[in-house]
Amino acid sequence: MARETIIAGNWKMNLVLDQAWELIHGLKQELSGKKGLRVVVFPQAPLLPLVADWLEDSFIELGTQNTSSQLQGAYTGETSPFLSQQMGCRYGLAGHSERRELFAESDKIVASKAQTLVELGMRPIVCVGESLAEREANQHEEKIKKQVQAIYQTLPKEQHKDLIFAYEPIWAIGTGKTASAEQANEIHALIRAEIQSQSVELIAHSTPILYGGSVKPESAGELLKKSEVDGLLVGGASLKAKDFISIVQAYP
Ligand code: PGA
Repeated sequence: MARETIIAGNWKMNLVLDQAWELIHGLKQELSGKKGLRVVVFPQAPLLPLVADWLEDSFIELGTQNTSSQLQGAYTGETSPFLSQQMGCRYGLAGHSERRELFAESDKIVASKAQTLVELGMRPIVCVGESLAEREANQHEEKIKKQVQAIYQTLPKEQHKDLIFAYEPIWAIGTGKTASAEQANEIHALIRAEIQSQSVELIAHSTPILYGGSVKPESAGELLKKSEVDGLLVGGASLKAKDFISIVQAYP
């Protein structure tokens, strides 16, 4: 069974109304669905209902960047995953390194957010990856395995099939330094082996693992050719219609 390819655009805290409309308009004009490919955009929460509307007649899907592990309640300033689901989100990022580093999200918090998304019928994209210091100290494999383990220690077996992972080396995010396609492939294989040891072979085989970190039109094709790379999580280059279109078109 071939794994699907997912190309996701993480807009982060960027794009205001007219910019978001122009980008979506551009993507809709140029992109058409291909078998085995999913394209997902992750706007800021207040944009979700509008973007959902704009994407009504499109194959492009919608995701949320960050949601609470709680469904609703007295959590001022948080975004409800339940409401995001009602707005049309089918995916949610969990454990992006900016959330882990700037907002102190632990492995445990990330796992509980991922679990809430699954329980609502959404697919979490769980981000894992090492810092430059961890890579230089040769601690990257341990770090990544620990992040993967935390997910399987929390989610029960029947939820494993809904997970998606993204390998995002922190040293490559927004820095212009992409991991080489070989480096990405190697770590993806490590993540898949860890999934197999935490779950079962069938799950390890069918779980999509995306690469993220300074993906550009020039690097997308090489990355997508790798056997263990099942898609891309794109930050900066997903904000420009021309670049994101080229990246999506790199899918054969
Ligand atoms: P970048 O961001 O493509 O701008 O490096 C990727 C991400 O943080 O998801």
